[in-house]
Amino acid sequence: MSAINYAEKIPNNVNLAGDRTLQRALEHWQPHFLQWWHEMGPTDFESADVYLRTAVSVDAEGWAQYGPVHMPEYRWGIFLADAAPNRKIGFGDRMGEPAWQQVPGEYRSTLRRLIVTQGDTEPASVEQQRLLGHTCPSLYDLRNLFQVNVEEGRHLWAMVYLLHAYFGRDGREEAEELLARHSGDADKPRILTTFNEPISDWLSFFCFTYFTDRDGKYQLKSLAESAFDPLSRTCRFMLTEEAHHMFVGETGIGRVVRRTLEVMKELGTEDPVKIRAAGAIDLPTLQKYLNFWCSSSLDLFGSEISSNSAANFANGLKGRPDEDQYQDHVLRSAMFHMPMPDGKTEDVPMLNALNEIMRESYLKDCEIGLKRWNRTIERAGHAFRLTLPSPHFRRSIGAWVNQPVSPEGKLLARNDFERQLSNWIPSDSDRAFVKGLMQRVATPGKMAGWIAPPERGINNLPVEYEYVHLH
Ligand SMILES: [Fe+2]
Ligand SMILES: [Fe+2]
Repeated sequence: MSAINYAEKIPNNVNLAGDRTLQRALEHWQPHFLQWWHEMGPTDFESADVYLRTAVSVDAEGWAQYGPVHMPEYRWGIFLADAAPNRKIGFGDRMGEPAWQQVPGEYRSTLRRLIVTQGDTEPASVEQQRLLGHTCPSLYDLRNLFQVNVEEGRHLWAMVYLLHAYFGRDGREEAEELLARHSGDADKPRILTTFNEPISDWLSFFCFTYFTDRDGKYQLKSLAESAFDPLSRTCRFMLTEEAHHMFVGETGIGRVVRRTLEVMKELGTEDPVKIRAAGAIDLPTLQKYLNFWCSSSLDLFGSEISSNSAANFANGLKGRPDEDQYQDHVLRSAMFHMPMPDGKTEDVPMLNALNEIMRESYLKDCEIGLKRWNRTIERAGHAFRLTLPSPHFRRSIGAWVNQPVSPEGKLLARNDFERQLSNWIPSDSDRAFVKGLMQRVATPGKMAGWIAPPERGINNLPVEYEYVHLH
């Protein structure tokens, strides 16, 4: 195990002190990052003591330390999972060759693009969530929001390290650009659409952490397979932190469901109007939020048929998530039956269908939470079931772009589709209703009326613990 040196300005386990030039370059970028955090992060909570976990090693047991921190003083550092000795390339045309410790010249710009695209999502989500603290449903949730925020900041550090260490001047310029683009900015938006969507209420935050952070998990898993070993090691450690973000989403939505069921029981009704009047989120409205964020996140996997992803795989840059689970790691002769909007299936080379394969395994992972939430609904004696929308619903890239497909996967007449869209994704009035519920609750142990308390606190502390001390 490589220990992290906390005496250094930038905590790291990459022996930064052994490379003065790199160290100086990163120490030059550090104040720019802090300035960005100060302007675009959760700026109104800079003096709060937040009970946060900080990475202190990459050890499987006990990699994190917990304690109260002012967020601007969080120790953002550079942590890579330990190197696997003699690691070999695990897929593609160069399978079996030694993994790369440096970037091969011919893949330089593609790898840089992959790293920049991943890196861009990290600060984007902090920007999207920057005002949520004002309407937190509890101090427990407030703490979780900030935990996610500081770790996305660390993920930015992880990508910036790779850019600085392996891409020279271009990499340093890209690192500056990562702080210059902003979520939703008219002139310099973030690279991917989902990361420009505003997250102005906590239901959206829970959906985002459930669906969009899970896309992050799948992207990181596929980059963890990369032949470029420093990228692989970086992503492997990021996945450790990412798990908590999805936990926040899954338990957040689960607690909304529990609270809604309680209100339904108290009132003895399934009538959304009455449930809303009692200050809870009716299940059909929750379903609309799931439809919105799931479909938006599905676009992040890219087009169904993609020559870029074929090349990235063949060249060893980006594998499939959990590449080990497959038999064939070269895919030069395999075919994929791709359903098309005209009702036919097209046979495409498996290599060109990898985005779709990733999307399918992502959706399977998404099902897990739905099963859990539906079990709670079933146990409460209700017939309503939450579902994932069809992967062809509301797609804005790929084979299904702008196809009038219902969440059930039915191709409709365009006007039918348009007419019903507000039944499927949140309408302005749905959003206004949910926003109206967002009132800050900041008494330790107290919860907003639209969400049930969590089953347990953080790091074995009680739910009533003062996770954030506001000044
Ligand atoms: Fe992240
Ligand atoms: Fe995340």
